[in-house]
Amino acid sequence: MKRNCLLTTGLKAVLATGLGGLLVLSGPQGSNAEAKTWPSVRSPIEKDPIIEAKIDDWLSKMSLEQKVGQMIQAEIKSISPDDAAKYHIGSVLNGGGSWPTDDANGPLGAWMSMASLFYGASMDTGDGRLAIPVMWGTDAVHGHNNVVGATVFPHNIGLGAANNPGLMRDIGTVTAREVAVTGIDWTFAPTVAVAQDIRWGRTYESYSSDPKIVANLSKEILLGLQGHPALDNFLSQQKVIATTKHFIGDGGTIDGDDQGNTVLPEDELFDIHGQGYVQTIGAGVQTVMASFNSWNGDKVHGSQYLLTDVLKGKMGFDGFVVGDWNGHAQVEGCSNSSCPQAVNAGVDLFMVPEDWKAFLSNTVSQVKLGEIPISRIDDAVRRILRVKYRAGMFDHGKPVEHQLAGRASLIGHADHRAVARQAVRESLVLLENNGILPLNPKDKIIVTGSGADNLAFQSGGWTVTWQGRDLESRIINPRKYYQGHTSILDGMREAVKTAGGKVKTDPKAKADVAVVVFGEEPYAEFDGDIASTDFDLKASKDFALIQDFKARNIPVVTVFLSGRPRGVDAAIDASDAFIAAWLPGSEGAGVADVILGDKYSFKGRLPFDWPASTDEGGNAKTRYARGYNAAINIGSEP
Ligand code: BGC
Ligand code: BGC
Repeated sequence: MKRNCLLTTGLKAVLATGLGGLLVLSGPQGSNAEAKTWPSVRSPIEKDPIIEAKIDDWLSKMSLEQKVGQMIQAEIKSISPDDAAKYHIGSVLNGGGSWPTDDANGPLGAWMSMASLFYGASMDTGDGRLAIPVMWGTDAVHGHNNVVGATVFPHNIGLGAANNPGLMRDIGTVTAREVAVTGIDWTFAPTVAVAQDIRWGRTYESYSSDPKIVANLSKEILLGLQGHPALDNFLSQQKVIATTKHFIGDGGTIDGDDQGNTVLPEDELFDIHGQGYVQTIGAGVQTVMASFNSWNGDKVHGSQYLLTDVLKGKMGFDGFVVGDWNGHAQVEGCSNSSCPQAVNAGVDLFMVPEDWKAFLSNTVSQVKLGEIPISRIDDAVRRILRVKYRAGMFDHGKPVEHQLAGRASLIGHADHRAVARQAVRESLVLLENNGILPLNPKDKIIVTGSGADNLAFQSGGWTVTWQGRDLESRIINPRKYYQGHTSILDGMREAVKTAGGKVKTDPKAKADVAVVVFGEEPYAEFDGDIASTDFDLKASKDFALIQDFKARNIPVVTVFLSGRPRGVDAAIDASDAFIAAWLPGSEGAGVADVILGDKYSFKGRLPFDWPASTDEGGNAKTRYARGYNAAINIGSEP
């Protein structure tokens, strides 16, 4: 890596802006011959001459329609297997909250059945079609989270707090196994966003505001997902193709505006937002997703400089670039169904969930009219086929014949959930403790608060549904979507029972201590953007509970569930201990493991600065800096 001293980036930026840097700021499409920023990161996977020759052969046989079809990814609700075959579609996806059945609680086998239907159609050579396997992508971003019953890991922010590389690899391994059970080839993960403004609704998808942590953890989870390039497990039948996303600058937009504008000189763009790509390309990631955001005013989906010159050229990425959900439509002059600019810029596979048919015919016409050179189409198809070959898609046979196919017992398997529970334990960050923790399980303990027994709160967005709630009614996901999950209350009950006691849930009960669990309601992209980091405590029934316990002289341990730090000074000050628990996922028992008894200590460290509540001018100072953990910092625990 060229730059290892991040502390100097500010200075470099000043220099860059003062000198030739203005050129950079005035437009990313410039040649930037001066920029030495992007290192060449040759993939550890050598190009295989046999595969390349097979691709040459395909390219010589494919019609233009067949080639452009390979470049399209449609959503399973908007395309049938027959149409996918008829139009030579290269890929399908299920979006967040899209399942093969109308009901999330449909049979698990429906996933595999659908995978088989799409695969079978794509391999049918009737009517002169070519047998090129269709590739199914899904957002398995914290476990195989669209599938009811799957193991759900803490969202990335919690894993950044845990910051345990070995654990990341295990999480990748488990996620790949559960995805493989359902016949799906590909996950749109890991997210390597380095969120710089926690008001962004996708902050929880970011491991940390520290690029080094992001780069390191994303490399490890990638090695778990895809396997290690030096080992036989690389893209074996127990692995999935991964995606590093969203290239580039997704976490750097002004005011944390989702899909907004990231304004930075080029070397800062690289130093902050590029590190995850260096590490994951270096570890063999096969696909990179283009980002919705702009860089210095230009949408990345339309940036030939970033996608082609930088990513594929300078950095040497030889897999394919997938567009984000209609991301091409945001390029000036484009729409969902047409965007020659993005094809020319270097997007290889287009996520056109619904308007795929029109996009296909428009792109074919644009090639015929000379607006898109055929060499660009051939390059895109070559990259897509290269990944399909590398992933063994031509060799592994039908999805139902794969090693883990249909092994329902692996979905949410106890061994998998044990990994998730460890992740929960390690993700917890202790912000305050006046000595009340750890709790004695023999004490009289009340467990209450809106998050105590709330599986939707605990997992957040990207869990069975996109936003963690119904889009129209806004009602949070029903409990039946969380089969096999354990709430924080469940975990406390179990542990206390084992010790011979009984947890109380009535806040009016007599008790030695109260555990109050509350925090943010589920959200995902767009919906989760906020104007202020303050959490509204005035309107919070949970805060009223905390105050009530205080008034009754019952000490309070607050467990705060959230996708990011929030200004909650009054709640912290009113609590005897305060724990940031992030979005822990399916294994709520990991919380009880740490707060009860002394078997486990608080290991997590803040992956982001934690703000104080804002002052009258609307400004929030940092209350706890990144890296903080009260247990470690006061030396009470090893
Ligand atoms: C899909 C998501 C997608 C989003 C983009 C939703 O309807 O379910 O997967 O990210 O649309 O707008
Ligand atoms: C998100 C991506 C996701 C895609 C498919 C988009 O809206 O930005 O992260 O992979 O939808 O669901």
